Amino acid sequence: MKRTIVTMPGDGIGKIVLPEAIRVLEAVGFEAEYVHGDIGWEFWCREGNALPERTIDLLAKHSIGLFGAITSKPKSKAAAELAPELQGKGYTYYSPIVTMRQHFDLDICIRPCRSFPGNPLNFVRKTLDGGYEEPQVDVVIFRQNTEGLYVGVEWTNPPKVVRDALETHPRMKPFKDVPGEDLAISVRLFTRNACRRIIRAAFEHARCFGYRSVTICEKPNVLRETSGMMEAEAAEIAKEFPDIELWSTNIDAQMMWLTKNPEDYGVIVAGNMFGDIVSDAFAGLVGGLGFACSANIGREVAVFEPTHGSAPKYEKLQPSIVNPIAMILSACMMLDHLGENEKAARIRNAVAAVVAEGKVRTYDMLKLPGGPDVLSKGAASTQQMTDAIIAHL
Ligand code: NAI
Ligand code: MG
Repeated sequence: MKRTIVTMPGDGIGKIVLPEAIRVLEAVGFEAEYVHGDIGWEFWCREGNALPERTIDLLAKHSIGLFGAITSKPKSKAAAELAPELQGKGYTYYSPIVTMRQHFDLDICIRPCRSFPGNPLNFVRKTLDGGYEEPQVDVVIFRQNTEGLYVGVEWTNPPKVVRDALETHPRMKPFKDVPGEDLAISVRLFTRNACRRIIRAAFEHARCFGYRSVTICEKPNVLRETSGMMEAEAAEIAKEFPDIELWSTNIDAQMMWLTKNPEDYGVIVAGNMFGDIVSDAFAGLVGGLGFACSANIGREVAVFEPTHGSAPKYEKLQPSIVNPIAMILSACMMLDHLGENEKAARIRNAVAAVVAEGKVRTYDMLKLPGGPDVLSKGAASTQQMTDAIIAHL
C-alpha cells in the first residue's frame, strides 16, 4: 500500500535536512507520496499563524508527518515581524510544534539515544590502567509529551480564588504573607491515563525491541503525588511484562550516573520536563544534535522530527554543512511505526557503516566550529553524507 506522508520542512536547516531524508527513503524502496505542509516563521509573519489550518487538515487526513524544524523568536520580535496589515489585530505567536502536539494529543515522545561505534563524539570513560573505554549506549527515552510542568497552567500573582484554594494545603503556610506579585506558581499536572499510556508504550517497545529493563526516572520521594502516580502505575503495568525488569531512578541521581553506567539502561520513562532533561543528557553521550531523533505519537497522528532546531546561521551556506543523520534516523522511526522495520534497519545499518568507516564526516563529527570553511578542512557536506549513506544501502 502506498502511504501519504505530510512533509513539513519548516524553517532554516529543516528545509535542508528533510529532503535528504526523503532521498534516503526513496533509495531504500519505501513507496510513498509526499504532500507538503506549511509550517513555521514565514506563515506567522504572513498569516499570523505558524501552523495554518490547512496543515492541520493534511495531518488529520494522512496521519503521518515528517517535520524538519521551526524558528521561534521572542515576543517583541514576533510582534515586530508580523505583516503590517495584521499588526494590532490580536495575533499571538504560539510554537507550532507545541500546538501540533496539543491539537493531536501526541502524548508519547520517543527519543532513542544509541551510539554508533566509530563516532568521534561518543562518550568515553577512563579506565584504572590509564586507558579508556567507550561504552555502547542504547537507551530509548519515553517522555510524556503533553502534561507535567509544560501544561502552561501558571501565574505570577495568582488570582484570589487560586490562592485561597492553595492555602487550604498546610504546606502553603510559609508563603502566606508573600505579596501576590512576588509569587510565581507553575502547576505540575499528571493524569492517570497519560501515565498509563506512556508506561505501556515503553514496556511494549522494550518487549518488541528486546530491552531487558524499563526505568521510571522521576522523583517520587519529593513529588509524591505526580511522580508517585507514575511509579504506582508502572508497578501495575509491569505485572503484565514479567520478562522485563522495572527499575526506578531519581532524575538527579540519574544525571550523576549518566556517565558512570549509561550502558546499563534500556528504556527510560519520565514526565515531560524530566524526560526533556534526561533525553538531552543521553543524546549528548551519543553525538548530540546531529544524531538526536524523535517521534511524537498520538492515537491517530504521529509526527517524526529531529530534536535540533532550525540553526539559522547555517541555513544559507552553499553547499550546506549540517548533519542530516538526526533527520534520517527520525525517518527510520517513521518506518518502524509503519511496520517497515526491515527498511528502517537497513538505513540504520547504512548510517552505522558510514560512521564506522570514518571517511565521510560532517563538521560536528570533526569537532570543528561551523562555518563555510569546514569543507576545506575535510568535513563532508550535508549532501555528501546522505550520498554515503545511500551508497551503503
Ligand atoms: P539549534 O538546534 O537550531 O542549533 C544549535 C546548534 O546546534 C547550531 O548552532 C549548530 O551548531 C548545532 N546543530 C543543530 N543541528 C545540527 C545539525 N543537524 N548538524 C550539525 N549541527 C547542528 O538550536 P538554537 O540555535 O537554540 O535555535 C535556533 C532556532 O531553532 C530558534 O529559533 C529555536 O527556537 C528553534 N528551535 C526549534 C526546535 C524545533 O523545531 N523542534 C528545537 C530547538 C530550537
Ligand atoms: Mg529539549
